[in-house]
Amino acid sequence: MASEPRPAPAADAGSDPLAARDAELARPRDAELARPRDAELARPRITSVPVRFTSARTRAMPESVFAHMDAAKAAARAAGRDVIDLSIGSSDLAPPPEALAALRDATADPATYGYCLASGSRPLREAAVRWHRERFGDPPGGPLDPDAHALQLIGSQEGLAHLLWAVADAGDAVLLPDPAYPSYFGAVAVAGLEAIALPLLQQNGFLPDLDAVDPRAADRARALVLNYPNNPTAGVADEAFFDRAVAFCRRHGLLLVHDFPYVDTVDGEACAPSVLSRPGALEVAIELYSASKSFHMGGFRIGWALGHPEAIAALARVKGAVDFNAYLGIQRAAVAALARPRSAARRDALVFAARRAALAAALAEVGWPLSAPPAGMYLWARIPTVAGALAADSLAFCDALVRDTGVALAPGRGFGPNGEGYVRFALVRDADPLREAARRVGAFLTRQG
Ligand SMILES: Cc1ncc(COP(=O)(O)O)c(C=O)c1O
Repeated sequence: MASEPRPAPAADAGSDPLAARDAELARPRDAELARPRDAELARPRITSVPVRFTSARTRAMPESVFAHMDAAKAAARAAGRDVIDLSIGSSDLAPPPEALAALRDATADPATYGYCLASGSRPLREAAVRWHRERFGDPPGGPLDPDAHALQLIGSQEGLAHLLWAVADAGDAVLLPDPAYPSYFGAVAVAGLEAIALPLLQQNGFLPDLDAVDPRAADRARALVLNYPNNPTAGVADEAFFDRAVAFCRRHGLLLVHDFPYVDTVDGEACAPSVLSRPGALEVAIELYSASKSFHMGGFRIGWALGHPEAIAALARVKGAVDFNAYLGIQRAAVAALARPRSAARRDALVFAARRAALAAALAEVGWPLSAPPAGMYLWARIPTVAGALAADSLAFCDALVRDTGVALAPGRGFGPNGEGYVRFALVRDADPLREAARRVGAFLTRQG
């Protein structure tokens, strides 16, 4: 069974280094892993592979909250529950038809069948730079150059993980928001880095208090990671905040990494600001974009980075050892999507805004009032006290909720210690299923109270 601790190895752990590693791994990593679970939840676990082929970096990676919920959903389905899955931020809207047509055409074009070297990715880099100019104008430091300031990514998640390898050495520190998109923690562990947590608190609008960061910690860090509109909190940053962040990074010699996949999810006519448009930013910042959220193409695995030429070149070098760029047809699909008029992005943002309003209203009706944020694909909600002991244990809350009602949410704890006590609703279903989810959540809370 997946969650059972392995039996302690027979060898003398004191004298045999491999046995010592075995013994270390045989210890449950925390009480949660030691909890007996249903056999339905069995899934591959790091500790089930021979330890000599598992690096310390790999073992340092936290368990994936999404994998946990995947197993909990499978168990609920197996038990006959109708699952409403709001645990993953995978957009259910349709990719742009012109992107799908470009991909279809590309599969019939033999010129797309070979390895795509860097020069082959130029059309996407040009399209990304053009898109940024049309949306935000030229950065104060001068226009972006597709060859110096742009790079294609296999999604912003891939980009961030390899960027950390590219710009920091094992043992270095990185300033990381808490809560944050869970893959950040794995990426930091794999790069052998130390994470210095920047709490994102509701009373600060989920922005980090940069004045509260110990200057010695900031001096020894290599990068500051930000993400606005934010996952999971849906917090938004304004230009004044980015100006402070740029000044902070310049003062402490940090690379400002702005993970920006939710650029297109802001309500109304306002644009989520690009940090690259702030004075001085191009000298310290890199911004990561994604077709997953802007164009509902999460499965296609395509994104791009814009920003500081040295960071771009370092990332390109690391990626050169890892991948040959995305399939050219997928790059062409992204180019087609980037040429869409802004009105298309606005239309999609309105869909998420309407869902957000519907879910917030339905939750308020069942006694879970929330303030709906002005952006993003999520509602980030403190578990109400009526949930009793479950209010302080988001993983237990989500396990019980999906088991009893089929509603799957993401437990806040998976986003970092400051996420404990919260859950995240992903707005990836229409208003009616969202209302039904709220109704079931309400009945569940009533049973707890
Ligand atoms: C903050 C953040 N960064 C990155 C990603 C992953 O983006 P991509 O699909 O481009 O790898 C997500 C996905 O939910 C996210 O929320």
